[in-house]
Amino acid sequence: MDTLTPTTEKKVFLETFGCQSNVLESDHLTTLLLKDNFSLIPTPEEADVILFNTCSIREHAEHKVFSRLGQLAEWKRGKEGRVVGVLGCMATSYKDQLLERAPHLDMVVGPDQYLKVPATIRKASDTGTSQVLADFDPIYFPENDPNRLSQPHKAFLEIMKGCDKFCTFCVVPFTRGREVSRPAESVLEETARLGKAGVKEVMLLGQNVNSYGLGLKSRGKTLTFAQLLKEVGQVPGIERVRFMTSHPLDLSDELVEVMATTPTVCESFHLPVQCGSDSVLKRMGRKYDTAHYLERVQKLRSAVKDLFITTDLIVGFPGETDDDFQDTLNLLEKVRYDAVYSFKYSPRLGTPAARMLNQVPEEVKDERLARLNEVAWKHASESCEGRLGKVEEVLVDGPADKTPDAFYGKSRQNRTVVFPGTGYKAGDKVKVKIESHKVANLYGTAV
Ligand code: 5AD
Ligand code: SF4
Repeated sequence: MDTLTPTTEKKVFLETFGCQSNVLESDHLTTLLLKDNFSLIPTPEEADVILFNTCSIREHAEHKVFSRLGQLAEWKRGKEGRVVGVLGCMATSYKDQLLERAPHLDMVVGPDQYLKVPATIRKASDTGTSQVLADFDPIYFPENDPNRLSQPHKAFLEIMKGCDKFCTFCVVPFTRGREVSRPAESVLEETARLGKAGVKEVMLLGQNVNSYGLGLKSRGKTLTFAQLLKEVGQVPGIERVRFMTSHPLDLSDELVEVMATTPTVCESFHLPVQCGSDSVLKRMGRKYDTAHYLERVQKLRSAVKDLFITTDLIVGFPGETDDDFQDTLNLLEKVRYDAVYSFKYSPRLGTPAARMLNQVPEEVKDERLARLNEVAWKHASESCEGRLGKVEEVLVDGPADKTPDAFYGKSRQNRTVVFPGTGYKAGDKVKVKIESHKVANLYGTAV
């Protein structure tokens, strides 16, 4: 298969759904495709190849892909050589079942098999047979090509993949496989290459970064996540380091200490709680209770000044009662998050929660989500008000979309800041005095 030579320079349209890992992996796929003489185009009209990098986290994400796939049956009809592919999490969760649902699909490639994507496109196109490659590979990690970053000053960096936590609602352990940490040498080498190429901010990615290093002993230098974070933060050129996602159970004092003492590590922390009821947390398999969670938040807040804390919350987990939901609202009042990502529980194939008998009706989920969001928005808005009059250090991303003669970027806390000006470029650092806020965005003037 790998010996097939390029037949034509095919045009590929790659659409990405889902999380930051998918964004990083799509950048990596782009690099691989360009190296192999494919060209990438921004819209599907002229494409010879349409690829979806998919997400399975909730049903809605999968529906979008199934509906796109349905539309493409007509696009392929009578057009020899055209290729449609599903990559990412849906490839590993459905494998060849996808071919039954969409017989015009030519390739199904899971996240650990991307090196084979260019050759697989050719094989599918030349032979007209469907290809399925969905095995896990613990050695493969997508790396950035510093010359082909979608943003020149920022990069995502995958430090681990998979997950062994098996929360009862979550499909990730099935779509991404067992937890594997990338050797620290490899992470640090990539960070050094990025720093040399002018990248100023790295976001370390993993499903559960706090358990980084477990099971790595035989494969090179072993570091804890806190030690890795500290070393990444000392790489020349790197001025800001962020990371996600942390599981509250493994959030160590050592990590709190590194956050408090490493100047390049930014003051933002995403700490998904999922729910404020201890009995629901237990059935979610989260293995901590709200007292543990609140103690960790307290520890972080007292160690790191101005910490921006965000969370993920699920409403309508099977068996969630009004009292359980009230416990979640009470937790929100206690923590007062700077931002909340809230979701309605979505049953996922093969997960224990999907088989629980006491599923919550959709209208109850809708009503709880609306109530939760109202409280969360109030806190987010108050959190923005707390920044009024302060001077934020902004790393510029580019010209603002909706405001003429203005630029936008991120503060150290990862808030979007918009300010008037001309001549700035991505990667510039600007001090901005905050004067107002709209929704979660801050507005101010460069000082
Ligand atoms: N239903 C709803 N939300 C989910 N998440 C994960 N699985 C599900 C599900 N089955 C949410 C969790 C997680 C975030 C990435 O997605 O809150 O932290
Ligand atoms: Fe899913 Fe839980 Fe693993 Fe997060 S920690 S990826 S929610 S199983």
